[in-house]
This record gives sequence, C-alpha cells and structure tokens, in this order.
Amino acid sequence: MNQARRAQYLKALGVTRWRDRRLVSKADKEATTPSEDSSVIEVSRTTTCSTTFDELALEAAKCTRCALHKTRNRVVFGSGNVKASWFFVGEAPGREEDRLGEAFVGRSGQLLNSMLFALGLDREDAYIANVLKCRPPDNRDPGGEEVATCESFLHRQVELVQPSMIMALGRFAAQSLLKTTESIGQLRGQLYSYEPFRIPLIVTYHPAYLLRSPLAKRKAWLDLVLAQRSLSG
Ligand code: URA
Repeated sequence: MNQARRAQYLKALGVTRWRDRRLVSKADKEATTPSEDSSVIEVSRTTTCSTTFDELALEAAKCTRCALHKTRNRVVFGSGNVKASWFFVGEAPGREEDRLGEAFVGRSGQLLNSMLFALGLDREDAYIANVLKCRPPDNRDPGGEEVATCESFLHRQVELVQPSMIMALGRFAAQSLLKTTESIGQLRGQLYSYEPFRIPLIVTYHPAYLLRSPLAKRKAWLDLVLAQRSLSG
C-alpha cells in the first residue's frame, strides 16, 4: 500500500503516528532524530500496535458492511494502550467522536476521564472503544443489524488487548457484551465474564447518563471500586 493511501486510512482511524515495520531496522540505523525516520508516519494516539491490531484497524477504516458507512465522517476504531489492563466499552461514536475519529472525546469523554482518574489511570493506561465504530445518524440507538455486523471488531480488539477488566459503559454496551436483555439496574453490582475469553466484566452507567443524572455518580463510583477490588483480589 502506498504511503498516501495508508496515511488516509490512519487519519480515518484517528491514528497519528505509525511505523512501517519493514522499514524499521534500516531507519533505526540511519535516523538521528524521529523526524528523519522515514518509517514513521506522523498521523497516533495509540500507544503500541501489533501488526494484527494494525490490520484490524485498517479493516475497520475501510468497512462498508452496514449503511452507517454512508453517513459517517470518521471510523472510530478505539484508542489507548493496546496492552492495557482496563478496557472501557461505550455504545457508539457521537458527533464529536465522528468528527475527530476518537472515542469519548466529547462531554461524556470528559466524565470518562474523571472516572479513569478516580481509578488512578489516564487515557494512555486504558483502551477505550465502542460497540459500534460508526456514528448512528442523529445519535439514534444502534440497530440490531448494525451491532451484529460490527461486534466482531470489538470482539477481536478484546482478544488482542487481553485486558484484565472490561468496563461496560451503559445498558447498550452491557447488553451486547453479555448477550442479555436485562436492565442496567439488574446488571450492575456483579462480576461477569466476557466469553469466550473469560475476561472479568463489570457494568456501570454510561457517562452521558451520569451527566444527566449526577446522583447516580455514587453508584458508578461503587462500580469502579468493585472493579478495582476484583482486579486486585
Ligand atoms: N458515547 C459513546 O458511547 N461513545 C463515545 O465514543 C462517545 C459518546
């Protein structure tokens, strides 16, 4: 693939720095500063990437499997540390995420940052993604077909990251990860397992809900404590 095409895909993904492994050893020998290194495309906020992760990201960037590709501006693949212990899963990109190509960068994202902070983490310590990689128009609820066609991306992301804890943010993420129709009230407060990888999973409120219902923040805090205890216990 030529560099311009690759840069276009990476931009669509919100990746700002990417290194061509085939050129690394040559570039390492010759480059004296990062800007002289011809193997690096300055386009990521992704901390580390295996080739397989890159391939998956490129596949998502090109995806036309459902009608959302016609209305999206950017594919919001996910971002953060691909070796993270914590994996946060939201619903779908909103307007800002669709504009910038990164998950949880709008108002909900600010609250998610605070939740991370409460856990002693910042965004680079976690991996953050959504069930859907493309924005449903007018922020409508994701359709069942859209989820069915998109969820293999999330599944493979989890498989590659192999986190120690998945936090499902909101009813929609919880129901699709756990394959259930139970309400968030029923799902909160328990430790689940994300199958078939047997990764511990805890359900909490979506940050957008917490912005509308600040009194629920106390319960969200209890969910974070439960997750942290489950991780260290
Ligand atoms: N809401 C989500 O579920 N995900 C985002 O990325 C932004 C808002």
